[in-house]
Amino acid sequence: MSLLDRRQFLGSAGIAALAAALPKYGLSLPFAAPGGSSFPAGFFWGASTAAAQSEGSPLADGGGESIWDVFLRTPKATADGSNNLLADDEYHRWPEDLKLMQQIGLNGYRFSVSWPRVLPEGKGRVNAKGLDYYDRLIDALLAANITPFLTTYHFDYPEALQKQGGWLNPDSSQWLAEYAHLLSTRLSDRVTHWLTINEPNIFWGFGSESGIMPPEQKLADAELVLGAHNILLAHGKSVQAIRAAAKRPVEVSLAFASLCSLPASESPADIAAARTASFRVKKSKIAPDLPPMTMISTGWWLDPIYLGKYPEDGLKLFPEAANLVKPEDMKTINQPLDFCGVNLYFAPTVKAGADGQPEAVPDPPNIPRSHYGWAVTPDVLYWAPKFLFERYQKPIAITENGLANDDKSASDGKVHDPERTAFLDAYLTSLRRASGEGVPLKGYFHWSLLDNFEWTQGFSQRFGLIYVDYKTQKRILKDSAARYAQIIRSQGAIL
Ligand code: FCB
Repeated sequence: MSLLDRRQFLGSAGIAALAAALPKYGLSLPFAAPGGSSFPAGFFWGASTAAAQSEGSPLADGGGESIWDVFLRTPKATADGSNNLLADDEYHRWPEDLKLMQQIGLNGYRFSVSWPRVLPEGKGRVNAKGLDYYDRLIDALLAANITPFLTTYHFDYPEALQKQGGWLNPDSSQWLAEYAHLLSTRLSDRVTHWLTINEPNIFWGFGSESGIMPPEQKLADAELVLGAHNILLAHGKSVQAIRAAAKRPVEVSLAFASLCSLPASESPADIAAARTASFRVKKSKIAPDLPPMTMISTGWWLDPIYLGKYPEDGLKLFPEAANLVKPEDMKTINQPLDFCGVNLYFAPTVKAGADGQPEAVPDPPNIPRSHYGWAVTPDVLYWAPKFLFERYQKPIAITENGLANDDKSASDGKVHDPERTAFLDAYLTSLRRASGEGVPLKGYFHWSLLDNFEWTQGFSQRFGLIYVDYKTQKRILKDSAARYAQIIRSQGAIL
């Protein structure tokens, strides 16, 4: 099955309804922020991108292939038949986009390094020209007073390593660590904020449990757990490697797709049920049209990383994990991290059932949905930071959050996207509430800086603050970018 089925185009009427349904962004009024609280000093107001989605030219100047490059050559890989060979042509056009970042007033920019661009075989031989590209970008960001947040690995796994078994190879954790060491050796004189891996639960669940993304494998439990364990080890070893090679103090985390649940009310019982549902390890669907997956569960990954142990419920589901873990492994995985980076888009609601356990509460039929079909649930930026901070005790960075919309350039030459403006206001208001209630926050990185290649959805989902005309590569700042600029200037006070 491909993600083609995930298309749930609402059309402009649906999107207009979305905007209309957010009067004063009161989607979830019971939880609306009381106002008055603010974002902490030093907060990063940023935007995010990833190499495979925006750079284009994957093989230029000696780059190697990723598993996505191979997958995208297969028929019907994407909803619109596109590939990412040009994407936003960011590989050549980043200076123009940097100016737009400055116009928005960003003080943080999250991007990823393409692993095969830098190491064409995934390990060993370095492609100097590939590294030079990131060198130039980082220098220019710093000159513009924009702090780089560098993701070492965002889905574009080197094909050469996949051919050697990928994450099932016993050396696989070392491969990522060596690559991270190389990046830190070269870039840590300037890059202070590092994210080891983007969404391990998504690329492993989608790529190797359900097999609907590359490398399109459906592994049996024993291998599924082994690969996940190697990814966890890779994260831990990479944290060690980044720190070992660092030329100045660095802050390190990962960007995790946290699958949080929202309480149906603010009763202690419903909140407790939502907390339980947010961390339990369970085979579940994140959208009705997706297969159920266990590997997407938050607790399976973040408990080892932040607490140094696999969760009990997960070990019951995957007893093979207990035999696999060597005593020293958890020490490696449980490296001290400086903050907790999470990608948050939407969340289901639960209430306390008769036995106090979480019981699903269906989304209201009229819940606003993005062009992608994802529910708009601003409270996720309140509850997820709260639950994550309670459990892991680290400052929270929202490393991704955003809305897919069917944006068009209007006859006045502008791009009017009131839906994204409403989304920004509503989600950031929830985040501010968390801050006001004592959750330490590091920053917010909107996904995405610019419209880009949305994996199996091709170019059909526009997530950008900046509109990209894919035929001409012309950029237009959307209305939402102007709104974000105002929010940033006021440090969130106008929300
Ligand atoms: C996340 C990915 C990111 C982007 C957004 C919409 O799962 O990390 O690359 O595709 O979703």
